[in-house]
Amino acid sequence: MTAALETRDWSAALARRTHSLGGGEITAILALAGATDVITFSGGFPDPATWPTDVLSGLAQRLVADNAAVTLQYAATEGLASVRDYVSGRLAATQGLTPGAGELMITSGGIDAMELVAKSYLDPGDVVVVEAPTYLGAIMAFRGYEADVRGVPVDDDGMRVDVLADLLAGGLRPKIVYTIPDFQNPTGLTMSAQRRQELAALARRYGFLILEDVAYRELGFTGPPPPSLWSAAPDVTLQAGTFSKIFSPGFRLGWASGPAEIVGTMVVAKQNSDQCSGALGQRLMEEYGRGGHMDAQIVRSRELYQRRAQLVDAALTAHMPAGTTWTKPSGGFYIWVTAPDGVDTVALSAAATDKKVAYVPGRPFYPGDEGATQIRLAYSRVADHLIDEGIRRIGEVLTTALEDK
Ligand SMILES: Cc1ncc(COP(=O)(O)O)c(C=O)c1O
Repeated sequence: MTAALETRDWSAALARRTHSLGGGEITAILALAGATDVITFSGGFPDPATWPTDVLSGLAQRLVADNAAVTLQYAATEGLASVRDYVSGRLAATQGLTPGAGELMITSGGIDAMELVAKSYLDPGDVVVVEAPTYLGAIMAFRGYEADVRGVPVDDDGMRVDVLADLLAGGLRPKIVYTIPDFQNPTGLTMSAQRRQELAALARRYGFLILEDVAYRELGFTGPPPPSLWSAAPDVTLQAGTFSKIFSPGFRLGWASGPAEIVGTMVVAKQNSDQCSGALGQRLMEEYGRGGHMDAQIVRSRELYQRRAQLVDAALTAHMPAGTTWTKPSGGFYIWVTAPDGVDTVALSAAATDKKVAYVPGRPFYPGDEGATQIRLAYSRVADHLIDEGIRRIGEVLTTALEDK
């Protein structure tokens, strides 16, 4: 006879750092990745139509057949030398600066770069300043190392650097200031050239590191954003980049470029996370890029996403209740909607699900308690012909909530 197994409660034993992590929102977004009957504005997913699968399968076949000793093997933790050479050339071409020796590593996407900086650079209680709102994966990465995450508001010119300056003058001493200066997630807004200069000056004066996330930098609709913080102030900036939005998230590839001492520590930190980013993906991305396919994909992507942003803007004008405002991005994947006071977009997610439409409510994008009336709309992967209907359904959910108030 076997004794009945007791169900054990593991939660009391979980590490303290897991308590403030959240994460349910990202899980919910990824769960909808394959949904077919929901019009989903929730995840920042690139459109599969931007991938030339014939080119990619040809490359994969060739790289495995001809180069298995490299592509199917472990790689150097900082990335394959040929791939770093390619990415370095790309940074020189797109941002006008070539990383020096030890200043560039390949990561497993942008989130890996964030995690490695946090792991290498943050002790419990260290202050990290973020834009409010910001990319929620970054908030989670910093909190994962028990950082004290503080928000600074944004306006049409990006982070309110004047507010940050006041906080610094008042004694706040962040170790890291994290910014997404170009076509930000979740607002779509871009930091002005002047604010970039002011931020770099503050970093030099107060001794913090700028962590610059350039996930959407190359997806400008009408031209590039102002010079990157890393290219203008490489002494105080670590740049985290990703190939997820301009190429494909399936490869999980990105980069970190910045002061050699920090990058070197991140390389050591990566040795006991995933040890190295996959060699097959690295080589494939390199060949794809050297063959000119990445640049061609980026041109197609900008056109596609610009059209979608315009379609969402027109649909919002047609369907949102009076008093609703939204941003007008000039690049990237997102529009940020602010409904009139009195709605709670977290609570309304269920009503949206009933209507077979999905968005991400505003709250998780803030380190504090704001965002109750806001929603993020990702237009990147919603087919053109579904955009008006999807926004109409969201408009209906908001209008009903305001009428019931
Ligand atoms: C601003 C920003 N940074 C980084 C990432 C992470 O992307 P990945 O880890 O796929 O490179 C995302 C993804 O949504 C993002 O929006």
